[in-house]
Amino acid sequence: MNIFKKKDNKTNNDKVEKKPEPKKKKGMRNSLGIDLGTLNTVIAKPSGDKFDLYQIPSVVAVEKEDPTSVLAVGEEAKLMLGRTPEDIVAVRPLRKGVIESKAQAKALLSKAIEIGTTKGETIDRVVIGIPGDASEVEKNAAEEITKSAGADLVLVISEGLSAAIGAGLPIAEPNGTMVVDIGAGSTDLVVISLGGITDIVTVRRGGDDIDNNIVDLVKERFNVKIGIHEAESAKMNVGMIHCNGNLENLSSDIIGKSVDTNRPKKIVIDSMLVADAAEPIVKEIIEGFGEVLERLTPELITGIYNNTVAVGGSSRLRGLKERICDDLRIPITIYDDPMTVVAKGAAIVAAEPRALEPEVRLKAMK
Ligand SMILES: Nc1ncnc2c1ncn2[C@@H]1O[C@H](COP(=O)(O)OP(=O)(O)OP(=O)(O)O)[C@@H](O)[C@H]1O
Ligand SMILES: [Mg+2]
Repeated sequence: MNIFKKKDNKTNNDKVEKKPEPKKKKGMRNSLGIDLGTLNTVIAKPSGDKFDLYQIPSVVAVEKEDPTSVLAVGEEAKLMLGRTPEDIVAVRPLRKGVIESKAQAKALLSKAIEIGTTKGETIDRVVIGIPGDASEVEKNAAEEITKSAGADLVLVISEGLSAAIGAGLPIAEPNGTMVVDIGAGSTDLVVISLGGITDIVTVRRGGDDIDNNIVDLVKERFNVKIGIHEAESAKMNVGMIHCNGNLENLSSDIIGKSVDTNRPKKIVIDSMLVADAAEPIVKEIIEGFGEVLERLTPELITGIYNNTVAVGGSSRLRGLKERICDDLRIPITIYDDPMTVVAKGAAIVAAEPRALEPEVRLKAMK
């Protein structure tokens, strides 16, 4: 079965001129895996048994009056943030993992495909990861947009499944395996067995929500306003999640704006503050995880106990592993390259679509 849907621009009236098929080099050259994330878009291009990896911020600069007219994409758009004339704004095409603006997402994907394409080469297969709970409409939109951005053959797969393939998890095993993908906008908890998704819970919470809570908490505790980017860097530098483990309380100096004096004021953000800000989000994620566990058969519980991997940038928060073990008794592994694994999995499928077929996986594992 061909799982890719081909772009078909022909009408009945089109004259079809038969040209010899251009000879393509054998191997994995003409395929790309793309993880279109809320904060980052990662592009993986198979190169031998490794990947060329590229990352761009999921940001586009648009005219304020016409948000469909895209002026810059990725790094270039990010640089325009805060420095642009008033009639230009930098925005994100995705919100909580879901495409908000088709025109903006198309611009981002065109850029991603351009970045992943070497001069003179055509990219004919693109596999794109989208949130596991995406509706048919969202899936079709992602597929259409990727085609219109320049890919001939497009396959849309769940980010969770893609991450599992990228992380080399035993997805074909009947006992199952689980991926917890904690990104910027959302968290996917995905159970995979016999090569397919058997259960999924998506919690629309992630690192962005933690950043917002840090801003609010700092205002509440110090009467100081800080920017969202300062909140994010403090989180990355000293961030932690409440747990029973004995983790060091680190601290980071931040300059904000005093609400009382309207003057700059230095405050200290420590790991405890970040943990307090993260707590409501962590609770929701743990609740979602608990829901999945309740539904699992004893066999799947065994598989998940032995094979659960956390990916996504927010899985880097210290204490995550300990907290999940405290609350749910599930030992998890934090994947060591958590932000590229979805794109890598997508690239593996793009190069070899049969990677998705359970019998192929099973054979490969024997
Ligand atoms: N060291 C770190 N500690 C804590 N959080 C981190 C760290 N590094 C990155 N992050 C957070 O990870 C998030 C980005 O992760 P990722 O690139 O996986 O998200 P995304 O794929 O763009 O989002 P989504 O999957 O929700 O669409 C951001 O919220 C970022 O602040
Ligand atoms: Mg993601």
